[in-house]
Amino acid sequence: MLRRTLLGSAPAILLAGARRPWREVESILASGDFKGRLSVDDLPTPALLVDLDALDANIARMAAHCKAKKLALRPHGKTHKCPQIAKRLIAAGAVGACAAKLSEAEAFAKGGVGGLLITTAVIGEHKIERAVRLARLKPDTIFCADNAQNAADLNAAATSAGVKLNVAIDLYVGNRTGIKTGEPAAALAQTAAKLGGLRLAGLQAYAGHASHRNGFEARRALSREVMQGAVETRRMIEASGIPCPMLTGGSTGTYNIDCDIDGITELQPGSFVFMDIDYARIGGADGPVFRDFKHSLTVLTTVVSKPTDSEAVVDGGLKAFSTDKPFPPEARGIDGVAFSWGGDEHGKLNLAKASKALNVGDRVEFVIPHCDPTVNLYDRMYGVRGRQVELSWAVAARGMSQ
Ligand SMILES: Cc1ncc(COP(=O)(O)O)c(C=O)c1O
Repeated sequence: MLRRTLLGSAPAILLAGARRPWREVESILASGDFKGRLSVDDLPTPALLVDLDALDANIARMAAHCKAKKLALRPHGKTHKCPQIAKRLIAAGAVGACAAKLSEAEAFAKGGVGGLLITTAVIGEHKIERAVRLARLKPDTIFCADNAQNAADLNAAATSAGVKLNVAIDLYVGNRTGIKTGEPAAALAQTAAKLGGLRLAGLQAYAGHASHRNGFEARRALSREVMQGAVETRRMIEASGIPCPMLTGGSTGTYNIDCDIDGITELQPGSFVFMDIDYARIGGADGPVFRDFKHSLTVLTTVVSKPTDSEAVVDGGLKAFSTDKPFPPEARGIDGVAFSWGGDEHGKLNLAKASKALNVGDRVEFVIPHCDPTVNLYDRMYGVRGRQVELSWAVAARGMSQ
């Protein structure tokens, strides 16, 4: 009845593609029980979609790889920001999850994820107080430090609270943060090992500049070169009689490179769960496109206007996709569509060479340029198989960049 009323009174544009009245969709969404009841055509757009088959294939591939190489896998949660995905990875064999920041780790802990490694140093009294609180909740959490003052501050807070904080020394391997490899890092490890409130967990070395180096051979050469200092530092620490059980690092781009560097014990890739256009462009071991992992993450939009025969406008713009890359989102399932930014809320499509027609109300799905910052734009993601929506996950650590 309601449906007939709406159909009769509203312009077709609002209802194109809808399968059931919104009030039904709303109650299914609220119930959380989607299976067999909800299609992607029912979702309000823009919507963040995760293809569950592709996600599971990516997880299985990385887990099998690490198992075969006898490496621990602690995937970076900064990509998905979602405790349910972290738990799916742990169920597949991961030892835990990395978090970029303290607040991201807090969100994972709240969501029941253990084995956390915070890959950025925790600096300042308030944050260290929170670090101690997190360690009480999840005692296996590992914190990174790259200077003696931070190690001393962590130790003081841990000692006065009566807890031990696991610490990894963050090494500078040409990318961003960290202490110089070799003597300076070994000396800091020795200092940390002597502090009663700390437990030396090992070393972290993240070479982000190597991850995205174009061409497999060039990437391999760079990663092997910069990670050598990290491996050597671990040897120096162990030679001084201090156990250094962990050397963690690596990324999606170097997962099949760092695994063969003797002395690395653990990989912390993130983007492989979703993949993005940026990563596809770096080139794989077997060709010019890196296709070891599938594009599982897309943004679903709706055509909201068709100003001319060869132009359409979708309801996803600067607020629906990250915009930090020089290439645009790519339409899935239609060839020859050129996307350009149409402002905050809109994307413009040039259809002059499109392989099929698009009309107002049609849905268009896009593979995204850069996954991490795109995920951070959404409160939820919808897990889909084909056209069916199976579940929805909160992006619980959205905005957790503190
Ligand atoms: C410290 C650290 N480790 C691992 C990763 C994962 O890298 P990727 O998403 O390229 O796999 C990142 C990503 O920025 C990172 O900052």
